[in-house]
This record gives sequence, structure tokens and C-alpha cells, in this order.
Amino acid sequence: MTDHVTISQAGGIMTLSLNRPDKKNALSDAMYGALADAMTRAESDPSIKVMLIRGEGDSFTVGNDLADFAKANQSEGGGSIGDDRNVGRFLKCLARATKPLVAAVQGHAVGVGTTMLLHCDLVYVAQDAKLSVPFVNLALVPEAASSITLPSRIGHARAFAMFALGETVSGKTAADWGIANAAVPAEELHGKAMLACETLATRPAGAVTTTKVLMREAERLAARMDEEGGLFAKRLKTAEAAEAFQAFAERRAPDFSRIEG
Ligand code: COA
Repeated sequence: MTDHVTISQAGGIMTLSLNRPDKKNALSDAMYGALADAMTRAESDPSIKVMLIRGEGDSFTVGNDLADFAKANQSEGGGSIGDDRNVGRFLKCLARATKPLVAAVQGHAVGVGTTMLLHCDLVYVAQDAKLSVPFVNLALVPEAASSITLPSRIGHARAFAMFALGETVSGKTAADWGIANAAVPAEELHGKAMLACETLATRPAGAVTTTKVLMREAERLAARMDEEGGLFAKRLKTAEAAEAFQAFAERRAPDFSRIEG
């Protein structure tokens, strides 16, 4: 149970709202669990036609809670992000969703905040949104099958610069590159996304779902998530990652120069 995800349902639309604005909607294990539970429920509920993912406050989400990563770095266990953990369950829900997913993105969308968008069917961003996947800066590797989905969406060179240089792209650029359908003024964002949901909810649900399933290779994406997840879990335990997480907590730049790779 968490208050940090608000689920509501109306007119065939399930809205999943990230609601931890004081931490820019950083995602905890409990939040992943709430998202996975809601998405699982939506898949088997014929009254739900569309899912909308959005965030309260000034940001969509700054990605995984880095304090949780720091704990995983120090813990004795494997630090898995596989199906035994809520994050793994959530990622598989994204991979295997058959009902359309719509996202509305303002402010920061970091890490999984951006990689989850690559599993959404319609994405609307504020023009000044900031999308980034700085996994390498954190001594980590891509997740959520983004090692496939990001380069295939925007090309290898742009994707590598986002992953390895930590380059941030604006909402406008995200739309130009095909990560998002449209970049709109921030005050129009939620209205635009809701209108798209309402329109989708009027379409024949069977045709929408079959079209979506035809367009995606869900099991290939799920298999890549497993492959990435194993490597990610190993990287979480490294001295490089410990330095990255400590640097974030201390609000300083990391120094990897004395750590052997
Ligand atoms: N996990 C946990 N807490 C986070 C967080 C994260 N991923 N990102 C931000 N926060 C917290 C901050 O610690 C701060 O909490 P505090 O007010 O209690 O100190 C609060 O959210 C606001 O963040 P802040 O860093 O002050 O905002 P900013 O506008 O100066 O910077 C970012 C925004 C996104 C540039 C910066 O927060 C950041 O780099 N976050 C880390 C993002 C990240 O690496 N995510 C993991 C991806 S795999």
C-alpha cells in the first residue's frame, strides 16, 4: 500500500497518477507495486479501455528512488530487478500491456521516467519537459528494454549520447525525434492527454488491442528486460555505483577516477 500513487477510473479510462511531488515522484518499490497491481487489474477489467500515466507536481518522475539504489548497493542480497520485485512486475506490465497506454509528461522524466514512455502508445510532453536516461552517469546500464526501444526509436547515435553522455532532451526535441506525439504548452498538457484517452475509449476496444499487439513484440521486449535486469543488478553492487549514489546524496559530482572498472 502507498499513498504515492493515486488510481482513479472514469469513462473507461484508468488514471495512474504518481503522487510524491516533494521528491519529484521518485519511484519507490511500493509505488512500482501499486502501478503493477493497477495495470494487472486493468488488463482483466473489460470496462477499462485506456490507461493514462501522469505525475502530480512539477515533474513526471525523476526515476527510481536513488536512496533505494544506495540500499541495494549495500545489501547482502542480489539486488535483483527481476519479476520477484515490484519494479520487475511493473516493467513486465509495460511490456505485455494489451490496452493502450497514454502518458502526460511535464518537468523531469529521468531514467524509467523516460524509458516507460517507449512502451506507451501515445505520449504528450510539455514543450519544456526534460527527458534523460543517465544510466551510465550512475554506473548502471539501460533497463525496461530501452537498449532496444530507444535506439530503434531515435537511432543509435542519439540514444548512445543520451545513455552514455547523459544528454537531456527537451519536450520539443522528444516530439521531433518521435519519442512523443506532440509537445504542447505546459498548461495544455493534461487536457490534451485526456482528450486523446477519451477519443481512444470510444474506439472499438478489440480493434485497438489487436492493433497494439500486432505493433509490438512483447516477448522479445520482456526477454531483453530480463537480460538487462541481470546486468543492472550486478552493476548496482559495484564500487562505481556506490560512488554515484553517494555523490547524489552529497549533492556533488561523482569521481570515478580512482575506481577500477
Ligand atoms: N530519488 C530519490 N530522491 C530524489 C530523486 C531520486 N531519483 N531525484 C530527486 N530526488 C529528491 C531530491 O533529493 C530532493 O529531495 P530533498 O528536497 O528532500 O532534498 C527532491 O527530490 C527535489 O530534487 P532536487 O534535486 O532538489 O531538484 P532539482 O530541480 O535541483 O534537480 C534533478 C532535479 C532531476 C536534476 C535531480 O533531482 C536529479 O538529478 N535527480 C536524480 C535523477 C536520477 O538520477 N534518477 C535515477 C535514474 S535511473
